[in-house]
Amino acid sequence: MKHWIAAAALLALASSGEAQTVAASKGGRVDKSSFGTTKDGQAVDLYTLTNANGVVAKITTYGALLTELHVPDRTGAAADVVLGFKTLQGYEGDHPYFGATIGRVANRIAKGRFRLNGQEYTLATNNGPNHLHGGLKGFDKRVWKAQPVSVGGVPAVRFTYTSADMEEGYPGTLTATVTYTLTHANELRLEYTATTDKPTIVNLTNHSYFNLAGDGQGTILDHELTIMADRYTPVDDTLIPTGEIASVRGSVMDFNRSTPIGARIREVPGPAPGGYDHNYVLSHGGGVLAMSATVREPKSGRVMEVLTTEPGVQLYTGNFLDGTLTGKAGVAYQKNGGFCLETQHFPDSINRPNFPPVVLQPGRTYKSTTVYRFSAR
Ligand code: BGC
Repeated sequence: MKHWIAAAALLALASSGEAQTVAASKGGRVDKSSFGTTKDGQAVDLYTLTNANGVVAKITTYGALLTELHVPDRTGAAADVVLGFKTLQGYEGDHPYFGATIGRVANRIAKGRFRLNGQEYTLATNNGPNHLHGGLKGFDKRVWKAQPVSVGGVPAVRFTYTSADMEEGYPGTLTATVTYTLTHANELRLEYTATTDKPTIVNLTNHSYFNLAGDGQGTILDHELTIMADRYTPVDDTLIPTGEIASVRGSVMDFNRSTPIGARIREVPGPAPGGYDHNYVLSHGGGVLAMSATVREPKSGRVMEVLTTEPGVQLYTGNFLDGTLTGKAGVAYQKNGGFCLETQHFPDSINRPNFPPVVLQPGRTYKSTTVYRFSAR
């Protein structure tokens, strides 16, 4: 009887959207609540990770997408430092991938075409003449399964999505996971894996837009950015790499020394309307988890360090935000209202033999880790 009452109480909690603790240890906690139902009737959950310092990250099973991330400034005051919406309806509407997990292949594939093992594949051209971020219904628009897990004794959540053979035109059944861990060192750790039953291509990333002053707190032009990269991949006027790997030295592309994002932003060459939208070739070369970029917001003192095992990172400065989307704080997102550092293999790699390869073979496991570490000074 007691059990029945407990089960009924849990069910009542789940259906009312109230949070239920699903894992806890060493001062960390994972809570689960309902985030509503998709237009086509799928139930969506929201997982809240809290670490021993009170840092909070919220991730929804819709798009395995980061909706909120509350981190302290130099006085200890927390702010939500990612852009996004209050409700699932916001994320189901048109938006530029706020917080989402991107797959099967992040960034662009020229003309939506590639060859693999002698076979030609055609993908949706959903970005001018090119394929972008997995297509019309990429991993960002799928409902993932979620499971609380423990990573190094810290409560975490693993999201899993199985993408069918030829979904969005990609060959092979691909099972992808992304595990979010919020460590007690104030790191949000994203660990990806993928396996396939046929040769395919994979490049997973997270598309969070950060504003370290807080969501809706103006532009990121004063944020001081360092990217540990001597080279980048120049693009044509449809943002496809030309194939050249060029030096950043002495140009507006160089962030080896901490520089405000806005300092030279109006001089950035290329088609992106007033801003950076470029892949940097990280100097560490990828393969091991290594320091890749640092961003500091001068007023709050919040600092975000990015470590990754990926060979590249896309710096995107929210150039296409134009005031038409209103975020969680009720503020319209203006141009440069957030920045992304999308850790990745280079854009259009499958068509560029001189770029690190993105092919995944059956029997192999794709692995990628990115850490966003927060502090204040
Ligand atoms: C791309 C941008 C695009 C943005 C949102 C970034 O990864 O490089 O060109 O506008 O995503 O879709």
